[in-house]
Amino acid sequence: MEKQDILKLKPIGVIHSPYHAGQTPYQGCGREEIGEVEVFEQFAEGLTDIEGFSHIVLIYWLHKSKGYSLMVRTPWDTKPHGLFTTRSPNRPCPLGLSVVRLVAREKNILKVKDLDAIDGTPLLDIKPYVPTIDKKSDIKIGWLEKKRG
Ligand SMILES: C[S@@+](CC[C@H](N)C(=O)[O-])C[C@H]1O[C@@H](n2cnc3c(N)ncnc32)[C@H](O)[C@@H]1O
Repeated sequence: MEKQDILKLKPIGVIHSPYHAGQTPYQGCGREEIGEVEVFEQFAEGLTDIEGFSHIVLIYWLHKSKGYSLMVRTPWDTKPHGLFTTRSPNRPCPLGLSVVRLVAREKNILKVKDLDAIDGTPLLDIKPYVPTIDKKSDIKIGWLEKKRG
């Protein structure tokens, strides 16, 4: 194994979600169910000031991911597409990303909406969603353009 292949990822918390495998809504968008993002006590100080943000980005480990295929069939097309043009949870490095609505904070617990991670998902990082950084214009969405219509 090469030195650059050795990465140590240490969870900063765990996602408590109303969803179990096979039940999650697509990208969680617009769903009103509340999930709880537990940040371990030793990292809780890092949540200082987070209440001022309406949306946050969660980065997590898709711990129940099983293998992967580089060409993937999705519900959105009859043709397979390259894995890295999809949000399939089955990936060589199964990182998940969700932009969620922050509803409330109770100490080290963040109550959020729009989750699509299953219960027990290890949380790797939290970042603020900042439109001036994250919102882009002149977007093309490749083969997913079909789904938009
Ligand atoms: C399409 S993926 C998108 C995940 C994330 N929003 C993203 O874009 O990276 C959503 C699927 O991942 C699955 N999933 C959620 N949490 C998971 C976990 N911890 N391990 C494996 N699969 C998970 C859900 O069941 C759902 O079918």
